[in-house]
Amino acid sequence: MQYPFTRKRRLRSSQAIRNLSAENHLTVNDLIWPVFVLDGFNRTEDITAMPGVKRMSVDVLLDRLKPLHEKGLNAIALFPVIEAKHKTDDAAEAWNPEGLVQRSVKTIKSALPDLMVITDVALDPYTSHGQDGIINEQGEILNDVTIKALVMQAKSHAQAGADVVAPSDMMDGRVGEIRHALEQCKCHNTAILSYAAKYASNFYGPFRDAVGSAGNLGKSSKESYQMNPANALEAIDEIAMDIAEGADMIMVKPGMPYLDIIAMAKSQFNVPVCAYHVSGEYAMLQSAIDNGYLAEQPAVLEALICFKRAGTDAILTYYADRVTEWLNP
Ligand code: PBG
Repeated sequence: MQYPFTRKRRLRSSQAIRNLSAENHLTVNDLIWPVFVLDGFNRTEDITAMPGVKRMSVDVLLDRLKPLHEKGLNAIALFPVIEAKHKTDDAAEAWNPEGLVQRSVKTIKSALPDLMVITDVALDPYTSHGQDGIINEQGEILNDVTIKALVMQAKSHAQAGADVVAPSDMMDGRVGEIRHALEQCKCHNTAILSYAAKYASNFYGPFRDAVGSAGNLGKSSKESYQMNPANALEAIDEIAMDIAEGADMIMVKPGMPYLDIIAMAKSQFNVPVCAYHVSGEYAMLQSAIDNGYLAEQPAVLEALICFKRAGTDAILTYYADRVTEWLNP
């Protein structure tokens, strides 16, 4: 392995040989597009902290999805923008069979039956206080009470036709309870993508503006249930528990600052590992792009291939629509 018999640069000397020797590839099959749905018809809104991303009513979303699905986009993750009048302390709107998510799933699945629809199972869009769980008078987030609500929410998504339910709330034990409930309601093919290693991250800020939960949450934090960014080994326990409870796939969130967690998860477990390139990561990249400090396409594609290199099977990214068009013009 000594120079000059070995010259590592030979494999970098042309585009063809670089393509041939690449260890990882990014395709549309790696992408999940997170989308923000609004109630109503023909509505589009800009999101200040996420330039280039829009909230859309489901008809507008469908118009956007049809050509993307033809170009190979396989999956979306739905996030609802819930009006203030539907937010309560018990989050009951979350399992309304005629709620925004449930109606949107039905509409999308009947128009595009082969597009995978993933729904978020967590109460934060529906609670008056913006927490993912139900709280008592002292403000404590009640684990087991919350699970009962999450089970009803997950069932209502599955019954509306969601392919995958994705609990993102970080309560202990919710995956097992959801799995049992789905089996009982004959939704045995509804998969569970568990946000198993979800950190209490500051990079979620723009998302909370996008769904309108920032004001409800105020200054309170989610640190009593989401993980401490200082911890890695704890993620292994979280993931192992969720797989044992019946999770089909797991998620690490946020993404790029947590590639070590993704790599660790991939090496220790045999289920698909997804990663969420979250709103704050999007905002950082896009602001640099909009200021002319970074070139959009190469910077975004590099970010995504780094996810692949770390071992990610599917990446939730707000760039999924653009990347689909870049990869399959
Ligand atoms: C809440 C939820 C959050 C995100 C997805 N689901 C925010 C939070 O935990 O407060 C964040 C996604 C992003 O930042 O892009 N259940």
